[in-house]
Amino acid sequence: MELESYFNFVNGHAIRIAHTRIGIETVIRDYLEGASPEEIVLRYPTLSLEQVYATFTYYLSHQSEVNAYLERVTAEQEAAWEEQQRNPSEFVRLLRERLNQMSVPAPSYKADLVGVFGYPVAENPTIVMQEAAFQALGLNWRYLTIEVRPEQLGDAVRGLRAFNMAGINLTIPHKIAVIQHLDELSPEAALIGAVNTVVRAGDRLIGHNTDGKGFVRSVREDAGMDPAGKRVVFLGAGGAARAMAVEMALAGAAHVTIVNRTSDRGQPLVGLLRSKTPAQAEFVHWQEAYAVPIEADILVNATSIGLYPNVDDVPAVAIDSIRPGLLVCDVIPNPPQTAFLRAAEARGARTVDGLGMLVGQGAIAFKMWTGYDAPIAVMRQALEEVFGVG
Ligand SMILES: NC(=O)c1ccc[n+]([C@@H]2O[C@H](COP(=O)([O-])OP(=O)(O)OC[C@H]3O[C@@H](n4cnc5c(N)ncnc54)[C@H](OP(=O)(O)O)[C@@H]3O)[C@@H](O)[C@H]2O)c1
Repeated sequence: MELESYFNFVNGHAIRIAHTRIGIETVIRDYLEGASPEEIVLRYPTLSLEQVYATFTYYLSHQSEVNAYLERVTAEQEAAWEEQQRNPSEFVRLLRERLNQMSVPAPSYKADLVGVFGYPVAENPTIVMQEAAFQALGLNWRYLTIEVRPEQLGDAVRGLRAFNMAGINLTIPHKIAVIQHLDELSPEAALIGAVNTVVRAGDRLIGHNTDGKGFVRSVREDAGMDPAGKRVVFLGAGGAARAMAVEMALAGAAHVTIVNRTSDRGQPLVGLLRSKTPAQAEFVHWQEAYAVPIEADILVNATSIGLYPNVDDVPAVAIDSIRPGLLVCDVIPNPPQTAFLRAAEARGARTVDGLGMLVGQGAIAFKMWTGYDAPIAVMRQALEEVFGVG
């Protein structure tokens, strides 16, 4: 029995423990040493409780096969385990005794559920990266893309409790409307005034906003730049700009400039940044090609300009004001390589695309729901395949 091809079928539900790179002998050895299944899960974050139980279930239904395997493995690994001074046959005897005493829970067909509410929602690609992440970690979770009409949002949110769901993402047009149906908001979501991720804690529904945090993560990880002390310029003052500007200010950005064609969204955002964050903030009325100040560190397109199918559109920026070394970011996830980013690169700027933010916000939600660190590279690759890049 090859460890790498170790498959476990519990009443037709395939659980591939080998995928987690944790061998069965590790799980069983830890159990024999006195660790409970819950403690084993804490030790190896890529394992789920179901997988630990499934390992024991498999053992109980294939004892002779597994015992033969363990005899061989323990013999092969005897040298390595010498410090434990454990006799291999004693190990297997103890194993058999303890597993036979153990009551294994009934097999489960139930998956943990999360998803997204939107209207329209059919083209939302988040399912692709979240399902890829569940698969990579061997988690029996499902991400559902659910069309919810605005007038039925309250019923849908109450349904999270009824369906025992772990949480939900919100997209257009529900990010603000959902707030009235929640029990609590994170301080950041309250500041931003919008929620894109709900986490259920018992019967309580808690609203978070991971959009801006996903952007900060992308600036840190993808561009290797710490926002602390930086001067940041945002083009746009909509929902995305609001989330990003608040999180960059909370991450220590020294100065934030909001450039918007209308002041009725730009001015309130500047007022919010000045009153609720330590950053300095100013509003610029966007009427002609914007000249990026020489002292700016980061320039962000937070408008919808350049989004598919208008892929040739670029925000009005004086291109010769983009200096080499400036970090230029775009929120547009589709296409990731926008005309704006291409023009900035041609000027010698460093760039970060909208996929980084999309993956970042999804990775933070993944961790909030499952408790596991998200496999970010797997998630990005899944989205790159959707958008035909990479
Ligand atoms: N990558 C990600 O994870 C992620 C996450 C969230 C959003 N997004 C993307 O971010 C973009 C903005 O989303 P949002 O929710 O912030 O939208 P929104 O609330 O509708 O805001 C749109 C912003 O773009 C400005 N704008 C639109 N067309 C313009 C034009 N022709 N000239 C100048 N300004 C223009 C608007 O200015 P006015 O205020 O003057 O109307 C507003 O500031 C969308 O393309 C969305 O796909 C990406």
